[in-house]
Amino acid sequence: MYIDCKSIARTIDEETLSLTSKNRARLVSLAIEPDEGTISYLKSQQKKAKSLNIDHETFVLEDVAALRQKLLELSKDETVHGIFVAHPLPKGIDEFEIASLIDPNKDVEGRNPVNLGKLMYGEESFAPCTAAAVVEILSRNMDLQGRNVVIIGRSNTVGLPLSIMLLRRDRSATVTVCHTKTRNLEEKTLQADVIVVAVGRAAFLKPEVVKDGAFVIDVGINVVGDKVVGDVDPEVEKKAIVTPVPGGVGVVTTAILMNRVARTASRGGQA
Ligand SMILES: NC(=O)c1ccc[n+]([C@@H]2O[C@H](COP(=O)([O-])OP(=O)(O)OC[C@H]3O[C@@H](n4cnc5c(N)ncnc54)[C@H](OP(=O)(O)O)[C@@H]3O)[C@@H](O)[C@H]2O)c1
Repeated sequence: MYIDCKSIARTIDEETLSLTSKNRARLVSLAIEPDEGTISYLKSQQKKAKSLNIDHETFVLEDVAALRQKLLELSKDETVHGIFVAHPLPKGIDEFEIASLIDPNKDVEGRNPVNLGKLMYGEESFAPCTAAAVVEILSRNMDLQGRNVVIIGRSNTVGLPLSIMLLRRDRSATVTVCHTKTRNLEEKTLQADVIVVAVGRAAFLKPEVVKDGAFVIDVGINVVGDKVVGDVDPEVEKKAIVTPVPGGVGVVTTAILMNRVARTASRGGQA
């Protein structure tokens, strides 16, 4: 069975539209040497922003110096409510330095170390967007208290922040985070009530390592031939409750990002 993530995104979009009908909101996206995937993502972001009455502009910058300069400029610009920096950045760029230059009050994607630090205190208004989307999907479908959640992947954008968010006392899941050095991964996934897969490998999670009726959140985005697929083998859907790809975590992530731009605008620029 698949979880209907599009209806979750629609509910978030409705709130966004009601906010943007009262306050002008503006998102600016920045990229250096965007690859085909990034260009296509930025185009869909533009379309989504337009459908939600959010002004959106994209700047493709020539190098890291230009990116730094633009980030400083946008931080001071009171007409800008959200700043998005497309990833992956070209090799050699210090991601920590760039994330630190995004104004924390406009960091709608949740990359600035200030916003990551706030997670430790349970403050999630600018938590990493994809982790927030996973929490949103799970919270709307179950009581997480005491559930065994296995997260596969420990990136700063997904697995690691998600583990902190699921441990927050009002959720109180029991969280296990797995990675390439994890031993006996299948023993852990077979015990899990919820499995979140954020690995980046098509059909990574096989049905034989998932217990019947488990919730499986597929974060992966992989291009196979001319198709976009997740990290979860399609056979898993026959025994578990799964988020689809495309039309799953990704649509909720984008809805949350746009909602944050609208909320920030409605609060006069404060996160
Ligand atoms: N839907 C969305 O909105 C959204 C947003 C962000 C990312 N994504 C997608 O999600 C996927 C993951 O993204 P990411 O940025 O988190 O990736 P990442 O930074 O490459 O991290 C991948 C993680 O998977 C772990 N891993 C890789 N192979 C493994 C294996 N065989 N067994 C166990 N763990 C393994 C890695 O472990 P180590 O740490 O040991 O290397 C790492 O922690 C990608 O497909 C990406 O495109 C989707």
